[in-house]
Amino acid sequence: MSRQTEAPIGVFDSGLGGLTVAREIMRNLPMEKIVYFGDTARVPYGNKSKATIQRYARQIVRFLKTQKIKAIVIACNTATAYAIDVVKEEAEGMPVIGVIDPGARVACETTKNGRIGVIATKATIASGAYPEAIHAIRPEVSVIGKACPLLVPLVEEGWTNDTVTNEIIMRYLDDVLENDIDTLILGCTHYPLLRHAIQRLVGSGIRLVNPAYETARSLADLLKADGIANESPSVEEEPQPYRFFVSDEAERFAEFANSILPIDVKTARAVQIDEY
Ligand code: DGL
Repeated sequence: MSRQTEAPIGVFDSGLGGLTVAREIMRNLPMEKIVYFGDTARVPYGNKSKATIQRYARQIVRFLKTQKIKAIVIACNTATAYAIDVVKEEAEGMPVIGVIDPGARVACETTKNGRIGVIATKATIASGAYPEAIHAIRPEVSVIGKACPLLVPLVEEGWTNDTVTNEIIMRYLDDVLENDIDTLILGCTHYPLLRHAIQRLVGSGIRLVNPAYETARSLADLLKADGIANESPSVEEEPQPYRFFVSDEAERFAEFANSILPIDVKTARAVQIDEY
């Protein structure tokens, strides 16, 4: 077993939402270690400019490289939409995977009527990254995008099963549903936490695509193809197989992480990310 094979995967997000991607990696790749960075001091990215998001992403990759990682997962739709090229450049040949291509691919496989809805942050919708990724696979498909900026704060507040949240979801989805979609991409890392509410509201005729799950599956393929998948027994027995870093207060992070992850997160460490 080479040292690189045993190295952790670097996973980053603008904050807490990327834990939905970390969760899928833990479930589907139980042999892999993870170093998670949440940019909690600078969240949200969803209403920031491309230049700012690219600068943040560069700093985060420089930090992750100090943790001797073997691959990078951009567990944030907005950062994937605007900064995947910058991340690849900074990663210097290390494998990099974002959440948009895996989500787009599965949506293309799923749709029967060729009409896909995408809900995401303002920045992700404005970037056009989902239609671009979808049209690269199936140019004839119609993509109906909708920015849903209020959903991230509602999830962070823990209002995932709440009448107010349901009303807001419907307000956003009304015009998307008018377009007769049969597939809906949850194009923001927080939205998988609303998937039960969204599925109930849109009905069983619409298939939800969770890019977090698809990303974990694509990561498994990528690690195997590059010969760096960890084949040793589950890392859960190892001391600290999962390490968490944040750019702001660590306490709140651990609380939120424990409500999402299948493990007990005791601490996260704070990092001065603008020094990288
Ligand atoms: N993680 C972001 C995304 O997936 C949502 C939160 C934010 O706006 O930073 O787009």
